Amino acid sequence: MIVVTGATGNVGGELVRLLVAAGEQVTAVSRRTAPFPEGVRHVTGDLAEPASLKASFDGADALFLLVAGEDPQAVLEAAKAGGIRRVVLLSSQGAGTRPEVYAHPVAFEETVRGSGLEWTILRPGGFDSNALAWAEPIRAHRTAAAPFGDVGLPAVDPADIAEVAAAVLREDGHAGRTYVLTGPRPVTPRERAAAIGAALGAQVRFAEQTREEARAQMRRFMPEPVVEGTLAILGTPTAAERQVSPDVEHILGRAPRTFADWAARNVAAFR
Ligand SMILES: NC(=O)c1ccc[n+]([C@@H]2O[C@H](COP(=O)([O-])OP(=O)(O)OC[C@H]3O[C@@H](n4cnc5c(N)ncnc54)[C@H](OP(=O)(O)O)[C@@H]3O)[C@@H](O)[C@H]2O)c1
Repeated sequence: MIVVTGATGNVGGELVRLLVAAGEQVTAVSRRTAPFPEGVRHVTGDLAEPASLKASFDGADALFLLVAGEDPQAVLEAAKAGGIRRVVLLSSQGAGTRPEVYAHPVAFEETVRGSGLEWTILRPGGFDSNALAWAEPIRAHRTAAAPFGDVGLPAVDPADIAEVAAAVLREDGHAGRTYVLTGPRPVTPRERAAAIGAALGAQVRFAEQTREEARAQMRRFMPEPVVEGTLAILGTPTAAERQVSPDVEHILGRAPRTFADWAARNVAAFR
């Protein structure tokens, strides 16, 4: 039995589907419900309240853990008590490149490494699905706004993260490893807008935001230090943040999916 937290999310939702298709027993944990595939056990649980997760761990042996809540120690103690032996943490590339900003994933990583469980850490860069923030303006007036329009980053498809997570949860040989997950090449925001336009068969106008405009928008849904860290990654990425990682290909035996592929599969959101 594999427990998937974040089961209603971009990564967790796909991971649940992949595990079920592979014949695994799955417990999906989330605060909200969603239409899960047949046979999936759903447990309403909140990572901010570790006691609420106890029921999900009974009889399970592996856990896909999200960075949420403030007490990863309590979550992992409950997991161990329920029989979990293996944990795969969805962290963030920023935990490696900007640990002072990404203190939350850093704290989860440290706890997972010291847990005594068999652990693997996934450090994805920015997700292709972040372009869903453009869904409404592209639907309404075929415009996509972002800062740093010509700075490319190798964003990763959440479906690739889910596929890597499924492999690492099910296969041996990944214990004690930290994998950086990226797409196949750097893509700029301007190129992403054009790729969505190509998938739509329509022109999408790219509107370059100033740093200040982007900061004001991000402050609505991100804490202040994360806003500054994100702006720094988007505008002045380090060499490590620009680099394409070999890890998706190493684990899946194929190249990571392209942004154009993500746009084609998700075009309905922009129509
Ligand atoms: N987007 C990026 O560029 C990026 C880059 C690096 C790392 N990440 C990491 O990847 C994670 C997953 O991304 P995603 O795109 O799959 O996220 P998403 O689509 O926004 O989904 C987030 C998931 O987390 C669950 N969740 C949030 N708080 C929770 C809590 N307190 N207890 C239980 N479940 C909780 C939500 O479930 P309910 O609301 O139903 O409970 C939902 O299933 C992010 O949280 C972030 O840490 C993201």
